[in-house]
This record gives sequence, C-alpha cells and structure tokens, in this order.
Amino acid sequence: MKIGVLTGGGDCPGINAVLRAVVKTAVNEYGWEVVGFRDGFRGLVLNDFCRLTPADVMGILVRGGTILGSSNRDNPFHFRLEENGRVRYEDLSGQALRNAEEQGLACLLVIGGDGTLNCALDFIEKGLRVIGIPKTIDNDLSGTDLTFGFMTAVDTATDALEKLHTTAESHHRIMVLEVMGRYAGWIALQSGIAGGADVILIPEIPYDLARVGRKIQERKTKEKSFSIIVVAEGAHAEDGEMVVRRRVEGSPDPVRLGGIGQRVATDLEKLTGNEARVTILGHLQRGGKPSAFDRILATRYGVAAVHLAAKGEFNRMVSLQGQTITSVPLDKEVTKLKRVPPAGELVQAARNTGIEFGN
Ligand code: F6P
Repeated sequence: MKIGVLTGGGDCPGINAVLRAVVKTAVNEYGWEVVGFRDGFRGLVLNDFCRLTPADVMGILVRGGTILGSSNRDNPFHFRLEENGRVRYEDLSGQALRNAEEQGLACLLVIGGDGTLNCALDFIEKGLRVIGIPKTIDNDLSGTDLTFGFMTAVDTATDALEKLHTTAESHHRIMVLEVMGRYAGWIALQSGIAGGADVILIPEIPYDLARVGRKIQERKTKEKSFSIIVVAEGAHAEDGEMVVRRRVEGSPDPVRLGGIGQRVATDLEKLTGNEARVTILGHLQRGGKPSAFDRILATRYGVAAVHLAAKGEFNRMVSLQGQTITSVPLDKEVTKLKRVPPAGELVQAARNTGIEFGN
C-alpha cells in the first residue's frame, strides 16, 4: 500500500516529529510506501513529491519547521498562477486529484490547521480519502483538546514574559508582549498564567483600557512600579476592532492580524504616565525545537493516523480527548473555531490569582 502526506498552513514545532512517526510506522510496521508532497497542497497540484523512507526522517524529531515545506496560500480550488507578471486564480483541484490517483494513494494524510483541513474537506467531497492531523500553534480547532505545536509556542511566550520582567522591574515600565493566536486567545492566556502576567487581553474578552489603567495604578500603590501585559494579536477594546496588519490574497483566511500591542502600549502610557514598551514575539513562536510535550503528542498523532489508515478508517482526524488519542469524523465541526470560554476554569483561575482581563 502507498500513502501520501503533506503539511499545509503555517509551520509549527512538531511537524517533523509527526512525519517521522508516520514514516516509521507505515514503513517499518506495515511495509507501506510513503510519498510526501512539497509545500502543502501546492505539491499535490504540481505533482511535486518525494519518497519518504526511514532514512529520510532520521534525526528530525527535534527539528523545527517541516522537511516537506508548507504554504498557507496555495488552495487548489483557487490556485494562484502567475504568467508574464499577471496573476490569475484557477480551480486546479481536478489536476490535484488526478495526481493522487496516478500515484495510487490509498489515502492522503493532511497535517494542518483549519484552512488546510477545510481544503481537505473539499477534496473528500470529490472522493479523495483523507486522514487529518491537527496542527497549529493557535490551538483553535474544535475537534481536539490540543493541537501539536501549541505548547511549544506557550513555552516560548512564557520565556519571553519571564525575560521582560527584569527590564520592567529595573526601569519601572509597562512591558507589553503581543503574541499570536489569530481569533483565539489560548497562547496569551496560558503564557500569561505561566509567565506571571498582570494583565491578559484576549479576543474572547473585549477590554476597557480604563480598567487596565486602574490595575496599573493599583499596583503602584502596592509599591510595584512595573506591569507585564500579554496581548493576543486578536484582542480588541469593547468599542474597537481587531487590528489588521496585512492581507495575503489566495490564503484560506487572507487576514493577518498584528499591531494591537503598540496601540495598548501607547494608550496606557498616556493614561498612566508610565513609560511603556512593546515586544512583538511574532514568528519566534512558530520556530525552533518542539518541547518534549509536543514531540510526544506529535509522535502519538503520527502513529495513530497510520493505524487509522491500516484499519481503513478514512476521512477522520486524530484527536486528543483528555489524555487519550482517538479520532473524530473529519467534517466542518472539527475545523470550527475553538475559542477560550470567557467564564471557563482557566480564565477564572487567572482572575483568582489577581490577573486583570480588562472587563
Ligand atoms: O495560524 C498560525 C499563525 O502563526 C497565527 O497565529 C498568525 O496569525 C498567522 O499564522 C501568521 O501568518 P503568516 O505566517 O502568514 O504571517
């Protein structure tokens, strides 16, 4: 039997660990052949692939990024073509499907977040057999408790918050850290708790800056002349909008957020008279070695995906439910946006330890 694999959307720590687990299990346990398509669905459209053997995945467990390459703007149903400097979009999904058929793939393992998995859903409609593996630092997929890559991003943001503490304390400043996460505040919330933030601003809880200002003044009366604020890129004021940094045409979601950290820092400086500085963590959150946790989760997902293929259980996504790896039907429900419950236990625990959310 032969299976295909591709990695789409933004890269994140742990993708290579999944690939390694997929190849080792498929080849060594089942004696199958594995082909990897380069740069996400782009490779399927252009038939750009390579054979993956255990030798090819040797030593990649700890390597960030993806050895296959990725793309978050190559949707085969709306594929960007450039000729003589002119850009046009065409539906090349039929070509992609033919390539999969000609390869004789029993199924395609799709490692991706909501954009990539939604694209996979469209291919399922056309008859392709798919197994999804949930990947994103944003942890915003409804079909699983955790996506791999997320905990490493939380570790990176937590480390940044710890480092910002020393400057904040020495210079009596407000230090604002802007983190990724798109429309969900998971990275901000969890790193804020772990990194000892005084204020956490997330998209799910629109904030009132006056409240944040009061929190900073209150800290001053307690002889704490500095404050640490973590802001999710999708956070916005009660009467404001998310800040959009750019648009990437051809991407499943063309909106790229960013800039709210600077806005919060500028406004708080005016409001409190304290000096404020902003740090944008950006793609550092997606880079580098996966944490031990993510290496394990990624390995479990990769192994489980191959076992699903062996059982002929196609069009499902591997999923973590509590402590258990299981699978769920790959449908619109699993790719739905999973947001932080504003009244949930995590937010409550943060509030109980004195963290301000600005509402
Ligand atoms: O979905 C992962 C993510 O890193 C988001 O947190 C962020 O908003 C977006 O991708 C950034 O995309 P790009 O790499 O295209 O700037």
